[in-house]
Amino acid sequence: MSAERKIPFFLPGASNPEALLSRSISRVLASNWFVLGQEVTAFEKAFAEYIGVSDCVSVANGTDALELALRAVGVRAGDRVVLAANAGYYSSTAINAIGAVPCYVDIDPRTMSLAPTLVEGALQNRPAAVIITHLYGQLADVELVGGLCKRAGVPLIEDCAQAHGARRADRLAGSFGTVGCFSFYPTKNLGAIGDGGAVTTGDDEIATRLRALRQYGWEGKYRVAVQGGRNSRLDEIQAAVLLDKLPLLDACNEARRAIAVRYSAGLRALPLELPVSVGPDYVAHLYVIRSNLRDQLRTFLAERGISAEVHYPIPDHRQAVSAPLHGDQPLPVTERACDEVLSLPCYPGLDLEAQALVIEAIEDFFREQGRS
Ligand SMILES: Cc1ncc(COP(=O)(O)O)c(C=O)c1O
Repeated sequence: MSAERKIPFFLPGASNPEALLSRSISRVLASNWFVLGQEVTAFEKAFAEYIGVSDCVSVANGTDALELALRAVGVRAGDRVVLAANAGYYSSTAINAIGAVPCYVDIDPRTMSLAPTLVEGALQNRPAAVIITHLYGQLADVELVGGLCKRAGVPLIEDCAQAHGARRADRLAGSFGTVGCFSFYPTKNLGAIGDGGAVTTGDDEIATRLRALRQYGWEGKYRVAVQGGRNSRLDEIQAAVLLDKLPLLDACNEARRAIAVRYSAGLRALPLELPVSVGPDYVAHLYVIRSNLRDQLRTFLAERGISAEVHYPIPDHRQAVSAPLHGDQPLPVTERACDEVLSLPCYPGLDLEAQALVIEAIEDFFREQGRS
């Protein structure tokens, strides 16, 4: 094995076969129709079928998916929305865009997502919605939280931006809640060649509102009937690429999971916390280990040419823009996670040698720690 080898955090090549991209793009060029055409219609139908819901409404990106979903389930300025604070601020951005109020709840250290018992308490304050993120590709305790929300009459929004294809008992992320929100950013498990997003739902009325919201609030051409609309459309080229890549998603997830299985076997004996599952409820969008020596380990890996990232270093309530309102709120599990998480390279195309080098480097790091 080469000690000189550089291992990047992500390489899009294996997920974007050139022949596939050429075919998708050529189809759009030949159609001469670039926005809301047959590719968008076909992708929405195929993605709704894949997730197992009646409707999919595509939008321009995952953050818009969250914002328009919040609007579609009735969230207004001043309403409270329950969420976790360790998921990269995307949901907070969407909530803030509406003028609603984020209500942060601590996470379960096992799933790294909302702790169900704490959601139960937060529901007493009558929030207008709950957002649950399937972080790193690990399905959250969504049945439990969904049941609590249902009993309280509060819509549940799943943030599935990292969890395309994650499933439990044949139900997929994006089919448990009132709506599911997806990003198709190029690094995602189903990635476009630019920005993209979608909302899935089994509720016809919500789907109709979403279709209006993504296009100026129109109920028909030039007739604005829904407040809060804007331009947020997936373009035909992205839809064509996503349509052609969708049949490959399960195999790509399997390739990611196989890497996760190897990492977990190789790192099992080390003083690290590892992902809770390598089964079908985890699609290994990110393979995240936890260590109180995170920063030293990251530096050590960088010296070996291995890129590792932190998702995410600053919890939402401690971001500069949030701190005046929320900064004093104690979220101990969230804060510890932000100090300890480290994402290792994990993507289709990462070969066996690279995986072995990553494991070996982490073993060497702890061996040196033991000697010092
Ligand atoms: C968990 C999560 N939610 C939402 C988003 C937002 O998606 P986008 O970048 O497409 O706006 C992302 C990705 O960036 C994400 O990882």
